[in-house]
Amino acid sequence: MPISFDEQKQIFKLDTDRTTYLIGIGPGGLLGHIYYGPKLNHACGMDMLRADEYPYPPSVTPRDKISFVDYYLFEFPTGGVGDFRPTCLEVRNARGQRGCELVYDSYAIESGKPRLEGLPCSFPGEDDAVQTLYLNLKDEVLGLTVTLLYSAFPRENIITRSVMLANTGMENGGETLHIGRVLSACLDVDQDGQNGYELITLPGAWGRERHVQRSAVRRGRQSVFSLRGESSHQYQPFAALVRHDTNEEQGEAIGLSFVYSGNFLAETEWSQMDQIRLVMGIHPDGFDWELRPGESFDAPEVVLSYSAEGTGQMTRQFHDFFRGHMIRSPYLHRDRPILINNWEATYFDFNTERLLTLAREAKSAGIEMLVMDDGWFGDRKDDFRSLGDWFVNEEKLPGGLSYLVEEVNRIGLKFGIWFEPEMVSPDSEIFRAHPDWALQLCGRKPSCGRMQLVLDITRQEVRDCIMDQLLSILHSANIEYVKWDMNRSLTDVGNLVLPSDRQGELLHRYVLALYEMQERLVTEFPELLLENCSSGGARFDAGELYYSPQIWTSDDTDAIERLRIQEGTAMVFPLSSMGAHVSICPNEQVGRSTPFKTRGDVAMSGTFGYELDIAKLTAEERTQIPGQVADYHRFHGIVADGDYYRLSSWSDSDPFDCWMSVRKDRSEALLTFVQVLGRPNFRSRIIKLRGLDPEARYAVERDGAAEGERSGEELLCCGLRFPNRGDFTSTQVYLKRI
Ligand code: DGJ
Repeated sequence: MPISFDEQKQIFKLDTDRTTYLIGIGPGGLLGHIYYGPKLNHACGMDMLRADEYPYPPSVTPRDKISFVDYYLFEFPTGGVGDFRPTCLEVRNARGQRGCELVYDSYAIESGKPRLEGLPCSFPGEDDAVQTLYLNLKDEVLGLTVTLLYSAFPRENIITRSVMLANTGMENGGETLHIGRVLSACLDVDQDGQNGYELITLPGAWGRERHVQRSAVRRGRQSVFSLRGESSHQYQPFAALVRHDTNEEQGEAIGLSFVYSGNFLAETEWSQMDQIRLVMGIHPDGFDWELRPGESFDAPEVVLSYSAEGTGQMTRQFHDFFRGHMIRSPYLHRDRPILINNWEATYFDFNTERLLTLAREAKSAGIEMLVMDDGWFGDRKDDFRSLGDWFVNEEKLPGGLSYLVEEVNRIGLKFGIWFEPEMVSPDSEIFRAHPDWALQLCGRKPSCGRMQLVLDITRQEVRDCIMDQLLSILHSANIEYVKWDMNRSLTDVGNLVLPSDRQGELLHRYVLALYEMQERLVTEFPELLLENCSSGGARFDAGELYYSPQIWTSDDTDAIERLRIQEGTAMVFPLSSMGAHVSICPNEQVGRSTPFKTRGDVAMSGTFGYELDIAKLTAEERTQIPGQVADYHRFHGIVADGDYYRLSSWSDSDPFDCWMSVRKDRSEALLTFVQVLGRPNFRSRIIKLRGLDPEARYAVERDGAAEGERSGEELLCCGLRFPNRGDFTSTQVYLKRI
């Protein structure tokens, strides 16, 4: 079984097929981190915790407790009693004093995995090998029980962690505690010698989301974080520790991904003893949770992917895990309908006739679904008004939604619709009736972003009002897809109902409310295809994958910019989750012109679609659409369910970009090569392929043209040639085992 406890050594051992994680009950019940690495047949000893070296543990001598605590490799460090590195837990008691010290109490090992209250979290699925370890720790002074949860997913080589806090203090009725900081995971490792650790993160901005950044871990603290109320464009709740010599195929990589859509912190400290600590969880700034006697609090989950075979394997483990244990949608393994979205085609300037024209053109090109984006409701002629008024604008859509959807269906397309449920325009009926429904600080006018305010969805009546409108729209017509958008960060985070000492709960309550709304949506419409979106890709996180199998990756649809964005996103998330569309050129965001084929080839590595006015395409471009549609259906299974390999990276200074997906049984593969800039006086590129069966023979097809047969061995060891001609050109190679 994956999880075991060695009574004699006092060590918990969590095994996956290729990894082992060891936790020891150290001196005085201090829970220590012993090991996370390649699979061990036998656990190493407790001596790895170095408790027999000076300074000795407080259970041996109280002399240097603070030094001991400050050097110890903790599983779940707490603040206030001597650990000066980033900690996971900070608790304030009724006297306003901070300090917490956790001592091991008991454990349980169970099959399967529990749910976390109100939070997205991974599930065992049909995998009956998944087990969970519950470690109960106590602070008797506070009357606090902390349960650390570790689940081992053997096949995917994933460990998940989360934390449950319970105020169990009953003496004198117990005391109310305030949780000022609760992070979900900590990893302490030694920064040993020349092959020490580097950090991979995915920083970005609007239109430049999730660019891969790799930098040395430095002494002191480094962090990525969000304080914007959403996971954000600027940083992704992901961090990986890798060795200096780790590359795609070799070396250690430990990736952590946080299953949460709000404020987060991922922080390292290279400390005085040449140890690196990495912690991840809800950002403590602005967080303050009241925990009364008898109450409990669940902290969100962190997913850990350890690979000794480079960052490529770390990524593939994440992909398998998210596909198998996080995405619940029935669309997970289905071909997604190829959609055309009218946003870049019309912006707010559309009506039924214009949409039907778009639908007819789309149908004749082979497209399968029309998505009506922003602008169909209230008085929404621009982005200055009407968010919150989720009733159909009959001036734009005479005959209402039912007429439009019936016509679109009659043309032969499915129909999808856009909402932005968390927002309100000051110029809206709903805001005029309920000005107190926006997040706001007393005495201050709340700040607008894109001329909109944030609804206080932490209030039940607010989310009910919005959800009732949304659900009634969905019941009114045959709507098969929803794009759930969110176009500004949270500011003015105050609410008019919570007492003063609970305002610090608001940001987390907001995220819980969002999850509750999305849960209601997918429960009432289990067959709905939901795509999350946040001003492009500001809420592309594992939490949202629990509700939607795909997320809009970025408003930047330029094929060349997408190389970086999609590479960074795919470092953690499966290609089947990345919304990717072909749009018009010159590109709306960067003004660049790229061939229609390149736009199609790049978008085909995500959930494929179009975001343009077909009438504005050249005849030559338009004729390519049916072929792209057919290729998407031909290749989607490989891309969506296969193993993904990064072969070369433009963002990593190669002049070209290349990646491939290989079916799990290695019978088929799809490779995409993008020549970003041609180079004069340079010969062809040779790229070695990955993931294929060396014993097999493959038929090679390049951009639809047969190119003979090659052995798997030849493709892996010698590679394929790609000509160095032109800018922004692309080649697709399809391989099929014969
Ligand atoms: C931001 C999204 O990313 C876009 O795709 C579009 O839906 C607009 N919002 C609409 O306001």
